[in-house]
Amino acid sequence: MTGGPREQFQTLTGMRDVLWPDSARRRELVDRFVVAARRAGYREMVPPLLEDLGVFLRVGEDTDVVTKEMYDFEDRDGRRIALRPEMTAGVVRAFVQHRPLLPWKVFYTGANFRHERPQKGRYRAFDQVGVEALGSDDADLDVEVIALAWRFFESLGLRRVRLLVNTLGEHDDRRRYTEAVQAHLEAHRGELSEAAATTLDRNPLRVLDSKRPEDRGAIATAPTIAEFLSEDAAAHFGRVKEGLDALGVPHVVEERLVRGLDYYRRTTFEFAAEALDAAQNAIGGGGRYDGLAEDLGGPPTDGIGFALGVDRILLAADAEGVMSAPEAHLDAFVVDMTGGGAARDLTHELRAAGLSADRRFGGGSMKAQMKAADRSGAEVAVIVGEDELAAGEVTVRRLRHHSDTAGDRAQQRVPRDAVVAHLAHGTQPTDAAPGPDTTRSREEP
Ligand code: HAM
Repeated sequence: MTGGPREQFQTLTGMRDVLWPDSARRRELVDRFVVAARRAGYREMVPPLLEDLGVFLRVGEDTDVVTKEMYDFEDRDGRRIALRPEMTAGVVRAFVQHRPLLPWKVFYTGANFRHERPQKGRYRAFDQVGVEALGSDDADLDVEVIALAWRFFESLGLRRVRLLVNTLGEHDDRRRYTEAVQAHLEAHRGELSEAAATTLDRNPLRVLDSKRPEDRGAIATAPTIAEFLSEDAAAHFGRVKEGLDALGVPHVVEERLVRGLDYYRRTTFEFAAEALDAAQNAIGGGGRYDGLAEDLGGPPTDGIGFALGVDRILLAADAEGVMSAPEAHLDAFVVDMTGGGAARDLTHELRAAGLSADRRFGGGSMKAQMKAADRSGAEVAVIVGEDELAAGEVTVRRLRHHSDTAGDRAQQRVPRDAVVAHLAHGTQPTDAAPGPDTTRSREEP
């Protein structure tokens, strides 16, 4: 090859590589979510990463997510498309397209893309897990959805999560409320920060979300939604709060909770991790979007759901000292001093029997292979030397902290033919009971 050194590439701004053991924690989190969602009758839906730009414009043409942060572009066919900034719009588009039977309860996991200013807990590519339930406006469904997320956080060991709930009322309530907030803020425009004044022109309710000290006064005196709620909306919200109480899900009514997306009607909620900085402490949120299916060309259909931010949940777990990273683990490491054939065959047989097994390639000295065995986190080394080979046996040696130091039990000779069965019974297989709903207690490296 000619020329100078090749350019070395780095991840794009706001994008990260997730290496083990962080990857193992993410998988554990997602697996647990899948178990929780299935238990509540939700089935998986996998929406595409790319959609027609129009799908996301329905999320709210006045929201930052759409106007400032979307990765949208013209593809080779000249069509305006976008990488999904969230999943709800795609799920509802899919509902309108396929018309599944109602109620339709789905869960999803996967990446989303927003061109945000990156900082800790705010990335341009981030994973969400979430659910959407279409086809019912029963307040008990709101309760089910919210409680599902709450119990999920609890199951991860998170203790410092605050659930904020609010209602934005029916379509008309929200419109009248928005007008009142706009009039109020217009009257205080002089006191507002420049950013808030700009937001006021585009999306008055979002000003209520401002954390800037200058805006606090005007926000504190702004009208609250309670005064604008129709009887139905107030009753619905009352039933939601009652249901959360009944299930023992602690919540705080936050009348200024305005979510960053425009499709919400009635119930909205957010989960704040108190262990994180206020600017990025939302580890999840959601609400009702009873008009969205219609906006996307479908029949009027009620819907509610949430999405939780995987990256932020893991940051919150770090801050609370829960969900620690797993240690490397293998059932067996084959050490082969006879040329490699034994390691090739034995690892294959062990894996076929459901055990996790590895080896060192290229052979090497006993010392080098034992070092690799130790580093692998294996419970035992299965050693094949010339001696063992001649005798038709292998040596099984317990490693590291797995050793019970009980003299000869730390090492024993086992017939080559019997070693797979010996290990399969003596150690717990890594992927025992591989049913879809098992949460793995141990991690492979
Ligand atoms: P969202 O509030 O935009 O709602 O996002 C949900 C969660 O995704 C946030 O609470 C946060 O944890 C995480 N998240 C958002 N942006 C980022 C980012 N740049 N970096 C890291 N994490 C982030 C939705 O997406 C709605 N689709 C939720 C929903 C479902 N509403 C109804 N159904």
